[in-house]
Amino acid sequence: MTDRPRLTVLGTGYLGATHAACMASEGFEVLGLDTDAAKVARLNSGDVPIFEPGLEGLVREGLAAGRLAFTTSYERVADFGDIHFLCVGTPQRRDGNGADLSQVDACIAALAPGLSRPCLVVGKSTVPVGTAAALAARLSRIAPVGEGAEVCWNPEFLREGHGVADTLKPDRIVIGATSERAEALLRQVYARQVEAGIPVFVTDLATAELAKVAANAFLATKISFINAVAEVCDKAGADVTMLAQVLGADPRIGSAFLRPGLGFGGGCLPKDVRAFLARAAELGAADALKFLREVDAINLGRRTGMVNLACEVLGGSVAGRSVCVLGAAFKPGSDDVRDSPALDVAQILHGMGAEVTVYDPAATHNASRAWPELSYAGSALEAATGADVVLVLTDWPQFAALDPGELGAVVAARNVVDGRYVLDPAAWRAAGWHYRASGIPATTRSDQLT
Ligand code: UDX
Repeated sequence: MTDRPRLTVLGTGYLGATHAACMASEGFEVLGLDTDAAKVARLNSGDVPIFEPGLEGLVREGLAAGRLAFTTSYERVADFGDIHFLCVGTPQRRDGNGADLSQVDACIAALAPGLSRPCLVVGKSTVPVGTAAALAARLSRIAPVGEGAEVCWNPEFLREGHGVADTLKPDRIVIGATSERAEALLRQVYARQVEAGIPVFVTDLATAELAKVAANAFLATKISFINAVAEVCDKAGADVTMLAQVLGADPRIGSAFLRPGLGFGGGCLPKDVRAFLARAAELGAADALKFLREVDAINLGRRTGMVNLACEVLGGSVAGRSVCVLGAAFKPGSDDVRDSPALDVAQILHGMGAEVTVYDPAATHNASRAWPELSYAGSALEAATGADVVLVLTDWPQFAALDPGELGAVVAARNVVDGRYVLDPAAWRAAGWHYRASGIPATTRSDQLT
């Protein structure tokens, strides 16, 4: 093995492309692999097919410095790498709640036959606990180097839209390893971060795997907690946005992930909660996590609650009515529409006969490919033109800055439902809008003060 280990990254989605580019920027030689030849060609020409601030610049720098390249060849990867990072997707299974590990399995099956010298295979993908140990046994059976191909688990906690910063400066580094050699190699990869004082936790494989799913389950629980409380606020005439601020001021609680709204979506939180439940059941611990069923149900309930509120505002039915949906991405700062609460609501309303027009600052292209039956507009003003109700479903800062007077001039009726609490109720009401949001009283204190 050379002084500095050579790295490969298997899978070039949000996680893999970001990890590959960041490691190249740290001075490592990195070879990324994807089975999608078109994506590999784009990446090799410095064209990043995902929306991730700062990523394209790092990819171009890495390519120009000759430290970064992408390939479709497992043979090349096996020959090149001392450390292979496994970054393929683990989506929800089509036939149940568990994780679909087919990409992980295919990746190991293709890589293993080429592993003829000692190396590490480091899992970063989110997997059910127990997967790493099973992969280690399988790898040592099928790789020519046998037990010289070791498995570690090194989960990532990166958030979409902050992937580069979260990778270069993570909150913590988790190294699930079964040998000192493996730990030492990963410490070499993250030497700069270790030097900078970022905490490193060295664990067994199972604890490292659980670190990721348990973190996501906790974050999901926090969001569903405040969303459940929003429904009580609704009945009690209280204001959930003020309440969240009060709760968040307690350092034991903290304000992060306590933003009420339409709930969580995306490629991680929803499927990780379900996969955690499914794995716990396989392990005979289903009862321990049964509250996560409720976390999932509360989250999905926010979407039906929004549909009901839209119907209520329109006098009982949305059929034939014009609905403007602001937001398609699962969160602001992203073009990702996987399990997007906003698009789910748009789709349900469309199914109920509404004429739905969607605007999103970044996700329109992905949304229109996934849901071509909806109409899409090039601006918020265009989407709102002629609308009977405007629904704010993703918390883009651009929506908070909308001028209620300007929008009011183009709609058919000044009805707005704020699913993410981004608008100022007082300002919108003052401009003649009928403003509604779950968990916000009909007249708020800020209204009274104006
Ligand atoms: C998440 C985890 O944060 C990250 O650590 C993990 O690696 C991958 O999953 P991500 O999916 O990028 O990251 O999005 P995140 O910023 O966590 O938001 C998830 C969802 O929760 C979004 O739909 C967001 O709108 C929603 N959310 C977040 C809330 O509704 N309220 C909050 O207070 C925070």
